[in-house]
Amino acid sequence: MEFEPREREMATVLPVVLVSTLDQAGVRNLAPYSNYTPVLRITDLIMLASWHRRDTLKNIRHNQEFVVSVPGVDLADKIMPTAMHYPPSVDEFEKAGLKARPSAMVAPPGVEGCLAWLECRLHKQYVEKNYVLVVGQVLRLEVRDDLVNQRGGMDLAKAQPLLASLDREGMRWATARDLGKGEPYGAMFPNGQDPMAQRKQSQDS
Ligand SMILES: Cc1cc2nc3c(=O)[nH]c(=O)nc-3n(C[C@H](O)[C@H](O)[C@H](O)COP(=O)(O)O)c2cc1C
Repeated sequence: MEFEPREREMATVLPVVLVSTLDQAGVRNLAPYSNYTPVLRITDLIMLASWHRRDTLKNIRHNQEFVVSVPGVDLADKIMPTAMHYPPSVDEFEKAGLKARPSAMVAPPGVEGCLAWLECRLHKQYVEKNYVLVVGQVLRLEVRDDLVNQRGGMDLAKAQPLLASLDREGMRWATARDLGKGEPYGAMFPNGQDPMAQRKQSQDS
């Protein structure tokens, strides 16, 4: 079946994250973003795509700081209340009934009860006519202790990160499943060595 080129969300499932910021008066703002991705492997950058008319964007531009909190499926019912358009004076944590979690390196708090938190500083903006690509540098990353598995990854069965699958009727919540098999990064290279691992080692030493 062929779809319109703009129906790209039909082709892949999207992440759902909650982005928290503070406005000039210190009011807490919270909004879900699905146009979120880490920028390549082993950089400390992440990217959000944002329409211009977002308090989130205004706040990030104003004080350069934001927190990306990663919700699990148990917070699915809290996503739409944070996506409502409220005036900037409204505390969106309160509106959504979500508890703030103090951050260590930035002023905006994260969201309590999430799976992971990325405290970020604005790194660069790519400004287009209708939208902005916001690149953030992650200053601090924390994953809930009970969700980290022996491989140093996320225990997906336990964490159940919230994902969204989009269709013509709207959004459908989903989650990820571990297939029980994987590949080392080195498998991408003819000599079986992952050059990024060496770069990381030399960065660490
Ligand atoms: C699941 C979900 C994902 C969303 N992803 C984005 C996104 O990636 N970029 C964006 O600009 N808006 C996105 N939105 C819309 C904003 O979250 C929404 O407009 C929100 O009210 C913006 O709040 P703010 O003005 O306080 O920043 C998304 C909404 C939902 C429900």
